[in-house]
This record gives sequence, structure tokens and C-alpha cells, in this order.
Amino acid sequence: MVDGARPRVFVARVIPEEGLEAVRAVCDMDLWEDELPPPRDELLRRVAGCDGVLTLLTDHVDDEFLDAAGPGLRVVSNFAVGFDNIDVAACARRGIPVGNTPGVLTETTADLAWALLMAAARRIPEGDRYVRAGKWKTWGPMLLLGPDVHGATIGIVGFGRIGQAVARRARGFELSVLFTSPRDVAFPGAARVPLEELLERSDFVSLHVPLTRETEGLLSRERIARLKPGAIVVNTARGPVVDDAALAEALSTGRVAAAGLDVFPDEPRVPAAYLALENVVLTPHLGSGTRETRAAMARRVLEEVVRVARGEPPRYPVP
Ligand code: DGY
Repeated sequence: MVDGARPRVFVARVIPEEGLEAVRAVCDMDLWEDELPPPRDELLRRVAGCDGVLTLLTDHVDDEFLDAAGPGLRVVSNFAVGFDNIDVAACARRGIPVGNTPGVLTETTADLAWALLMAAARRIPEGDRYVRAGKWKTWGPMLLLGPDVHGATIGIVGFGRIGQAVARRARGFELSVLFTSPRDVAFPGAARVPLEELLERSDFVSLHVPLTRETEGLLSRERIARLKPGAIVVNTARGPVVDDAALAEALSTGRVAAAGLDVFPDEPRVPAAYLALENVVLTPHLGSGTRETRAAMARRVLEEVVRVARGEPPRYPVP
């Protein structure tokens, strides 16, 4: 950036105005306005010469991207708490900080996990389809029964901010809470157990791990076979954490009673096996999808872009 010039910033999608205002005020902003992400060649063209970029989880930031942006790039700010779309090591080799949005979407994502758990357990989407299809004839003692949520056991895989926020909700519903975590976490009433034990003892299993080499395929065929019969699985983390073929098979036999899934390995494609099943509740990656939270995320990432593009240190670098 030439001294005194306004930093150039590329923003890869329309996000809430709350954040864009700040960028417009001090930067030359290039905003990608389509609903779909920029195609790769367009993305590479648009980031050339930028001081800062705001990316989404659909934009892959790797050496090719960084080469295209050029030596002036000072910050990559990701509009998500997850950053598995970014080669953080490649950024680090070039001294480019990566920012994300920890904290601001914790409660909102936990709300969605809880909504999926409740919807899957109490068969709400099935009930809705049943009513709309005109199938409802009378109050039925055996109609669309599910398991009790209150008093059951939930296993929370990954006990960071969002996992703990789910545990707080579980406490309100009087569930017993088991969790896995690489480190001990003091959380009254919750017990840290090995993953295999959690799978065997939990009526509900909710996934809250980041996607890394270690967590890819974590809920594998072998581990799905260890789930308690009739368990319910919720995934608001990342699609590749689960073996979809194995889960769909277990759902089709009823070995796993139901699932609530917000994330998939190859979004927006959803495995056909899930689409054919009544006992799966599907949402289009809505974890952080409230007006308030998306506005907070926008403020967070764009403040970070502006701060670092102007030469100040990042406030929220990813670990
Ligand atoms: C995230 O932040 O990582 C979510 O998946 C999108 O909000």
C-alpha cells in the first residue's frame, strides 16, 4: 500500500451492513454481490493487490490464493469461527495473520444444535409433513412417538465454547452431561469420559469439534456401531466429521433413531441417502444464522480487516 493511500479490501459476499460501513469509511472496498461465491478464477483476480480480504467458508485460501493476492496482503479475516477453508500454515509462512469470529456465535449455534436435537427427538418435521399431507385422522396414542429429552443423557463431543453452551441448555432440561475434550474442563454436573464410553452411554450425541486431520471421520462406521441403540445424533460442527454412508445406513435400520444435521462434507450437496429418510432433520448450515449474530460477525471480521490493513496488530488471530 502506498503511504497515505486507502487500504484495498475484497469482501467475498454481501454480509450485514453493520460491518461494511466501517470498511467503506476507511478502505477501498470491492464487494462480491452475487448470492453464490465467486468462482475460483474470479476470486483470484479480485484479490490481486489487496491489503485485506474477507473470506467465507466457501473460499479456499491456500498458496495459490496468496500468490494471486500478492505481497501486499496483510490480513485474511474469515466470516466464521471455523477456519478449515484456510491453510493457516501457508498464511503464517508469509506472515499474514488469519482472523475468525470466536465468541460471537457461541450461543446462537448452541441454540440451533438444541433445536435440531428437539426436532429430531420429538419428530417435529415429520409431524409437520404429516399434518400438511392431510394424514392426521385423530389423536393417536401411538402416533409419532419419540424419546423423552428431559432426564436423558447427552454426550457432547468437543467441549469448547459451543459444546459448553449446549451443556448449559442440557442442564436446563435436566439431562446428564458427558463430554470429550483433550483437556479437563471444570463444568459442574458434567463428566469427561473417553469417546467410546460417551458413545455407548449417550441417548443424544452432539458434535462440536473443529474440522482437523484428527477429527475428520471421527464418527466413523466403527464408532457409529458403538452408539447406544436408538441414539440421536446432532451435527452442527462440520460434515466430514461424520461417515455419512454409515450414519444413513444406521438411520435406515433404526439402529440410530434420528439425526439433526446442519453441515455436510460437500455443501450444498446433501447425501441422497439422507434425503430419502424421514428420521433426519436437515438444515442448510444455519448454525450462526440469526440477524443479531450475523451482524456481530460482520462487525468483528471487518473491524479486524480495517485494523490490520491499516498496519495495526490483529485482535483475533486464530491459534
Ligand atoms: C462457523 O462459524 O464456523 C459456522 O460454520 C458458520 O457460521
